[in-house]
Amino acid sequence: IPQLRVALLGCGVVGGHVAARLMASAEEFEGRVGARLNLVGIAVRDTSRPREAGVDSSLLTTDAESLVGKADIVIELMGGIEPARSLILRALESGASVVTANKALLAEHGAALRAAADDAGVQLEYEAAVAGAIPIVRPLGDSLAGDSVNRILGIVNGTTNYVLDKMDSSGLSQADAVASAQQLGFAEADPTADLEGYDAAAKAALLASLAFHTPVELSDVHREGITGITADAVANARADGYVIKLLTVCERVQSSSGPAIRSSVYPALLPTSHPLAGVRGAFNAVYVESEAAGELMFYGQGAGGAPTSSAVLGDVISVARRRLLGGRGQATPRAGSLRLLPMSEIRTR
Ligand code: NDP
Ligand code: HSE
Repeated sequence: IPQLRVALLGCGVVGGHVAARLMASAEEFEGRVGARLNLVGIAVRDTSRPREAGVDSSLLTTDAESLVGKADIVIELMGGIEPARSLILRALESGASVVTANKALLAEHGAALRAAADDAGVQLEYEAAVAGAIPIVRPLGDSLAGDSVNRILGIVNGTTNYVLDKMDSSGLSQADAVASAQQLGFAEADPTADLEGYDAAAKAALLASLAFHTPVELSDVHREGITGITADAVANARADGYVIKLLTVCERVQSSSGPAIRSSVYPALLPTSHPLAGVRGAFNAVYVESEAAGELMFYGQGAGGAPTSSAVLGDVISVARRRLLGGRGQATPRAGSLRLLPMSEIRTR
């Protein structure tokens, strides 16, 4: 059976889950890919820190550079701009495929990284970079590529949605709700990125680039955060039949010089009857309006280690299959570990 060497950069909230699932599901994944995914090392800052249960601590290293040079697939879950950018570039240039959840990096340097991937003829995938577990990057970039998207309306930051929801439903102060979001692993290393809307704006840039087939960067997105939203404002909104949500809107507009794209992130009052008003906790939702398909709604867990690991590992399996199968990229279903229920045992009522 072919072997693919996988290097993991980062073993925190998301990386810990990815490492544990890569190990626990090694055989299952082998069946789905047609190759063994061998985790060859995990780069961290401090090898003595406790890790997610199931992570083999003998794989931990502080030498990320050497690790990248030894892999066929590199998973970047360190976050931040540097050294993530340089390590990803190095990986791509050495012919490795890369999977990342790093929206902050992609919203600033995505074009250069994608160009490096194209030059090297390898894949750079980032399903987990927008809306955690929700499949939205591939649907927008591939499945809807034959359509014409007019507008995307979404809640794409789990932390702020959790914070606003807790302020509304439990009367928590913003500071206490933020502390709770940090404990649950929803928040960025610096939660200002969530609260000031930078994280949602980075995701808006990625969504707009994919939906409108036009490069959009963080600096192209109008951004307002939720730090000025008080408990009183949340309570008053509720009393008037509204909830406050950090909304992300990407749309085609008519400007004085012709058709244009507008992307923005801002706290908005939504009537409690609005479908996005019912998105609670760290859940996200992305509502897409397109020419031919009409309206589409994507909903699910937008943050957290386990949900995000689902999107990361989906990308890992996709790039692994493509490395083995070339352009086809889609494995034929193999005999797996599950048996088919015989017709005689199928009862519907
Ligand atoms: P964490 O802060 O929990 O983990 C970061 C990991 O990277 C840690 O293991 C840390 O090592 C390691 N690391 C950081 N800098 C370096 C460095 N210079 N050299 C070596 N290792 C380093 O982050 P998350 O897991 O929460 O997030 C990771 C990425 O995923 C980010 O890009 C984030 O935006 C994205 N993301 C996060 C989601 C979430 O819900 N948390 C959801 C979707 C995307 P050590 O442990 O030793 O400090
Ligand atoms: N901090 C991010 C959020 C993680 O709260 O949505 C998921 O991208």
